[in-house]
Amino acid sequence: MQACVITLGCQMNEYDTHAIQSQLAGIGYSFVDNIHDADLVLLNTCAVRGKPVEKARSILGALRKEKRRRPVTVGLMGCLAQLPEGQVMGAQFGVDFMLGPGALTDLIPALQQKGFTSFAFKDELRDYAPPPPQGVLSAHVAITRGCNHKCTYCIVPTTRGPEVSRPAADILREVEALRAAGVVEVNLLGQNVNSYGLEPGLGPHRKLLPGFPSFAELLRMVGQLGLPRVRFITSHPINFTDDIIAAIAETPAVCRYIHLPVQAGSNRTLRRMAREYTREYYLERIAAIRSQLPDATISTDIICGFPGETEEDFEETLTLYDAVRFDMAFMFIYSERAGTPAAKHFDDIPHATKVARLMRLIERQKYWSLQQYRRWVGQTVEVLVKGPAHEANLMQGHTRGNHTVVVPNTTAPRPGLYSVRIAHATPHMLYAEGAAVPEGGFVTTAVLN
Ligand code: 5AD
Ligand code: SF4
Repeated sequence: MQACVITLGCQMNEYDTHAIQSQLAGIGYSFVDNIHDADLVLLNTCAVRGKPVEKARSILGALRKEKRRRPVTVGLMGCLAQLPEGQVMGAQFGVDFMLGPGALTDLIPALQQKGFTSFAFKDELRDYAPPPPQGVLSAHVAITRGCNHKCTYCIVPTTRGPEVSRPAADILREVEALRAAGVVEVNLLGQNVNSYGLEPGLGPHRKLLPGFPSFAELLRMVGQLGLPRVRFITSHPINFTDDIIAAIAETPAVCRYIHLPVQAGSNRTLRRMAREYTREYYLERIAAIRSQLPDATISTDIICGFPGETEEDFEETLTLYDAVRFDMAFMFIYSERAGTPAAKHFDDIPHATKVARLMRLIERQKYWSLQQYRRWVGQTVEVLVKGPAHEANLMQGHTRGNHTVVVPNTTAPRPGLYSVRIAHATPHMLYAEGAAVPEGGFVTTAVLN
């Protein structure tokens, strides 16, 4: 029996795909990349913006064609499967079953109930991934799932439900197993990792649940397990406390890469997004990070064209860029999500306005990225080389600060950790000594939408 699991969306979905694959492997499936070779196709979807939903629709169209030609079981999984929009789409494209992201452990029973498999599952059903095969250098570990926030644009609290922290002992056991399997970098995942271990609710004053360490304590514990690199994503500014900054500063294994989504620069927009902080509060957190971790990489997420965003509001996002000087930014055009408060209460603004603002943001970001990336020229940095770059004779990896680096394959013949001197920088890339900048530049992946 062969399965093909297609993953759209975020790193949490990549992690969920590993958990799904481990369950399927437990009942005897092997895996193929091509839907035409598969007996079972699972589409692990994303619903955060319109683009990934459209992508799911087009893949479901291809799968419907495949189903007409031969017997193949199709499952719609992930965030879209949790929404009325996804249920309608699943019925329209004739999928065999749908399971949301909170129901990963229902997959095998669902396959069995519907008679799609006669295999018995011997392992424990779980929604956490087992250690990857030998040779994988970097792995995700989910530490929280779901989100308690109520950002007015966001569908995630609806699709993934309220925040749940995973017991620390399970996390430590999993990280230890990864280390034993040769992994050198773990990425602790959650919609808001900083609120790990906190009681239900919102805001900066939540207490710890009995028996749970704080996120800062967890970082210290994971940092002591002997892995060279520990990173984490995503953080919410409201819970990014001083003790987290101190834990990063004091734990050598923890990478100094902080992804701190701000979403907008104007207090009026932040309030209407229900982000729970002001521009001033965000800038104060950035100052605290910079004072303790002067070499930290700071990146962000920005939404442009939120309903009702005026030219003045948008200009405050530009001035925030100048105040923070982000190393990297993931910039998105606002995408209305049915069922969110913003869709119910606010009117969208013209698409052309959103695009024009996005372009201005990208230009500003390029300028600051170049300034930040240039700080590394002449310095010797640690690179985790993962594999070949697009260009001949070059390997690609990333620094502890998450900058992409290209390295000559004579310096780094195979994946692993290397120490290299940076010779050149562009807004998207660092070049190790000996890696010539090709004419016309490199193929870079711009994350726009
Ligand atoms: N439209 C555009 N971007 C969104 N994001 C979340 N919801 C939306 C939406 N409706 C962005 C936020 C978040 C990132 C993962 O996706 O910037 O941080
Ligand atoms: Fe969505 Fe806000 Fe939760 Fe992030 S914090 S997942 S943007 S609701």
